[in-house]
Amino acid sequence: MGGRDIMWTLGIESTAHTLSFGLVDKDGIPFPSSTSTIKPEKGGIHPREAADHHKECASRLLHDALESQSLMPTDISAIAYSQGPGLGPCLRIGASIARGLASKFDVPLIGVNHCVAHIEIGRQQCGCEDPVLLYVSGGNTQVIARLDGKYRVLGETLDIGIGNMLDKFARAQGIPFPGGPVIEKLAAKWIEENPNPTMEGLELPYAVRGMDLAFSGVLTAALRLVENGKPLEAVCWSLQEHVFSACVEVAERALAHTGKTELLLGGGVACNSRLRIMCELMCEERDSKSYAPPRMYCIDNGTMIARLGWLELGAGRITNYDTSAIDQYLRTDQTPIIWA
Ligand code: ATP
Ligand code: FE2
Repeated sequence: MGGRDIMWTLGIESTAHTLSFGLVDKDGIPFPSSTSTIKPEKGGIHPREAADHHKECASRLLHDALESQSLMPTDISAIAYSQGPGLGPCLRIGASIARGLASKFDVPLIGVNHCVAHIEIGRQQCGCEDPVLLYVSGGNTQVIARLDGKYRVLGETLDIGIGNMLDKFARAQGIPFPGGPVIEKLAAKWIEENPNPTMEGLELPYAVRGMDLAFSGVLTAALRLVENGKPLEAVCWSLQEHVFSACVEVAERALAHTGKTELLLGGGVACNSRLRIMCELMCEERDSKSYAPPRMYCIDNGTMIARLGWLELGAGRITNYDTSAIDQYLRTDQTPIIWA
């Protein structure tokens, strides 16, 4: 591997329901990923079923990713993969593929932190310098800022991730995974039909706990509203307004405490237009700016893994095989920022 110039970096994402291969070129410029997401017909994601899905579609997706840029496997000069956090069986598939490819093509292996990858693709896409990140996905809900060489978690969910909460609420209404986008549509419909909606009778508990958040109480209360006959569209609207306000409030406090003036959205729930607008309004009021990457880089994608791998490799970091094991519980603040 020595002496070889960096050509293309391949990134492999496999933390949960999504397997995705993405590429960045020698300058770290990202290209859209080849992705497949398991959508369970009933119930939540079963880690082993997700892992089986990843195994089944891996070779086709890898082929598609290479073909999308007309590359030969020998054009790949580094392999990055999600080392954690995530579901063990799913992470292990990605890590095994990464080790196999790195060894076959004799190129460096770089295990990266999935959460940090969400931040770095967002920074690259939006051109922001030093943002507070509102990271809202299925499994994670965190407010993060760079302090002393690490991305520090200033606030986070104490129970379930906001996306999981939305998906669970949706599932109880017979809406298949992923529920978030459907809830967004139903909420928008309610506003369309009721231009001046009132929260009367639709109140939900507030999710803020100091700098942290908690969503399971809101979920239970929202389910009860539907059971008590409130229109589903109305409850979806109320649910979004309540939980997004809670996230925006914690993000605003993080901006105030850190003195930073950029907010960056990341994670699948950052696809939501209403959340994007709420963040923009909050930032306008405090002379700050809110950024959101294109939706394909908000959801889990291999390209963000490639991008962070490229950054870390550029700063001299390589993962040796004996330290390449996955870490289901890897924390955002465990990864030293050596590249910026
Ligand atoms: P992580 O491993 O970082 O927790 P993840 O496995 O949950 O990520 P993502 O692709 O980041 O995967 O996020 C998926 C979540 O995003 C799902 O819960 C889905 O319902 C939610 N989501 C996607 N689009 C929207 C939307 N428009 N509005 C609200 N939620 C959305
Ligand atoms: Fe994610």
